[in-house]
Amino acid sequence: MEVLDTLARPLRDLRISVTDRCNFRCVYCMPKEVFGRDYRFLPRRELLSFEEIERVARVFVGLGVQKLRITGGEPLLRRDLEVLIERLAAIGDLDLTLTTNAALLAQKAQALADAGLTRVTVSLDSLDDEVFRAMNDVDFPVARVLAGIDAAAEAGLPVKVNVVVKRGLNDGSVLDIARRFRGTGHPVRFIEYMDVGATNGWRTDDVVPAAEIVASIGAEFPLEPLEASYRGEVAERYRYRDGAGEIGVIASVTQPFCGDCTRARISADGKLYTCLFALRGHDLRAILRSGAGDTEVEDTIRAVWERRTDRYSELRTQETGRLRKVEMSYIGG
Ligand code: GTP
Ligand code: 5AD
Ligand code: SF4
Ligand code: SF4
Repeated sequence: MEVLDTLARPLRDLRISVTDRCNFRCVYCMPKEVFGRDYRFLPRRELLSFEEIERVARVFVGLGVQKLRITGGEPLLRRDLEVLIERLAAIGDLDLTLTTNAALLAQKAQALADAGLTRVTVSLDSLDDEVFRAMNDVDFPVARVLAGIDAAAEAGLPVKVNVVVKRGLNDGSVLDIARRFRGTGHPVRFIEYMDVGATNGWRTDDVVPAAEIVASIGAEFPLEPLEASYRGEVAERYRYRDGAGEIGVIASVTQPFCGDCTRARISADGKLYTCLFALRGHDLRAILRSGAGDTEVEDTIRAVWERRTDRYSELRTQETGRLRKVEMSYIGG
């Protein structure tokens, strides 16, 4: 049964974070000064179990969700993730996907594909090894990420590549990445650096507008815009006129897309967030662990969604950039 929020947006997409930990310390997401030795990550008992995740996902699917995305932190750090994928795949005919930094993908790709994952999205911010190592801040070599992408493709998983572009850091890598993935069948999406969380020191000047990215790629390889492939698609897509595939840009800062936002998020400890920039979540884990039946879980989710008013990116100002928001590594990208 469909459920609509106060702005008549249906609930279509559920993003589930399975861990708040990561083996990278990307400077725009988990800066080392904050997420260093003393940072208190969630203890294991606080995480939703696979049973709890499956149960909650089934309820969401009953409310109209068609896409499940597993995120983190880094989701491949969660032990036996393929077991969860198998359980979620059994729910029904869903788009079941994963966002990963691909550090562990080469060894996991086949098991994930066998478990029923439908595709994978890999974060990759530069092909220049030195820039990449500086951005992940754990000295991780880019070659291993590329090997992860190849392994996923060999396992039969369609791959998308996500690039967060930060001015002065990796804007010089945009064309390299476009050249490298043209003709491979892996669409690349360039993402405007956002003011998520409260730790990355975001400034407007750090954002490279999507229009600038499209212009610079288009100057080398002529592009033409494509129609959105579904309502609420986050990326604006373009095809190479010579037929070498497509790119996308995610302009959440310069052209916000809240009007069509059909996404809910569950943090690793089972809180339901109706916006990436929410200050607070609704504790589903407490309900799941209270002995409540599925109807009660469903009623709670429906009530939260029906009250939903979020449109942060449309309201963003210099001041809201400094609000104390939840971290992306906790809530999931
Ligand atoms: P597809 O299902 O492949 O179309 O992926 P998607 O469009 O859902 O995008 P993906 O999950 O790969 O997200 C890419 C990036 O877009 C994220 O890492 C965020 O930076 C940004 N993003 C995704 N969802 C939202 C959202 O709801 N709000 C905002 N402001 N940004 C988002
Ligand atoms: N702005 C935009 N995207 C971000 N991500 C993490 N932090 C930010 C940010 N500040 C993206 C990553 C990855 C996903 C997990 O979230 O690039 O694609
Ligand atoms: Fe980087 Fe993703 Fe890890 Fe954040 S969660 S530090 S973006 S790899
Ligand atoms: Fe959706 Fe919030 Fe992002 Fe707007 S800012 S698109 S409401 S998650």
